[in-house]
Amino acid sequence: MPHKLRQPMMVANWKMHKTVTQTAEFLARLRKLQAGGNHNGSGGACFVVVAPPFPSIPAAVEAVKGADIAIAGQNLHWAPEGAYTGEVSGPMLAAAGCTYVIVGHSERRHGLGETDEMIHKKVRAALAAGLTPIVCVGETQEQRSGNETEIILRYQFERAFWGMSAEDLRRSVLAYEPVWAIGTGNTATPDIAEGAHRFLRRCAAGIFGPEAAAGFTILYGGSIKPSNIRALLEHPDVDGGLVGTASLEPDSFASLVQAGAKSVASPSA
Ligand code: PGA
Repeated sequence: MPHKLRQPMMVANWKMHKTVTQTAEFLARLRKLQAGGNHNGSGGACFVVVAPPFPSIPAAVEAVKGADIAIAGQNLHWAPEGAYTGEVSGPMLAAAGCTYVIVGHSERRHGLGETDEMIHKKVRAALAAGLTPIVCVGETQEQRSGNETEIILRYQFERAFWGMSAEDLRRSVLAYEPVWAIGTGNTATPDIAEGAHRFLRRCAAGIFGPEAAAGFTILYGGSIKPSNIRALLEHPDVDGGLVGTASLEPDSFASLVQAGAKSVASPSA
């Protein structure tokens, strides 16, 4: 089952961490922690997605059977199949049981030379395979210092969703991940995150209309921890988190999920 419109969402991005065994152990523990449900007592729930490395996907899919946890790929190639050594396609991820896929993470943009054109093709490929793309955008420290944040965010958003429909947007998730906040411990202040999210929602409204933009899930990512999640989620345009380091321990990730569920009751508190 996909997430509902603007339902709070917590995504674990494990990056290059966890073997098959560690994946099964983590998810067994997470399920135990969620045994009472990740609900907030008034019918609201946080939507949970876990993105393990490719070899651990089958074990993850097996481990979440019967639980409200979706599995994501961390990347995909834009072609459905072909001579692309080392790559994995959308149809392959879908057949393995994934329903989400992360696209355009800054570690791929900046570390592996992924371009906006490649990211655009990957978003299309994900949607064509029936996967929900979690599309990452974000400025570097230099760009922020140079007052270029909005130019960069608009450009990355527009290029990723170029020529797409409001329905495509509805089937996608955006993640604002300032590069300077990822893995550094320097979380964006809730005001910085809210400002960027509001700006991105305005960009979405300009192209796809106010209704599509109002229903568009926008996550924040970058040094999220149990100690800072609540302040981030208090802002109405922050719909959840894309979490690296703090998603590697089940107890810490479960507490982020709990915070997401609690935010349902007071989305704009
Ligand atoms: P971090 O990573 O939580 O370790 O900063 C977030 C991400 O890269 O998605």
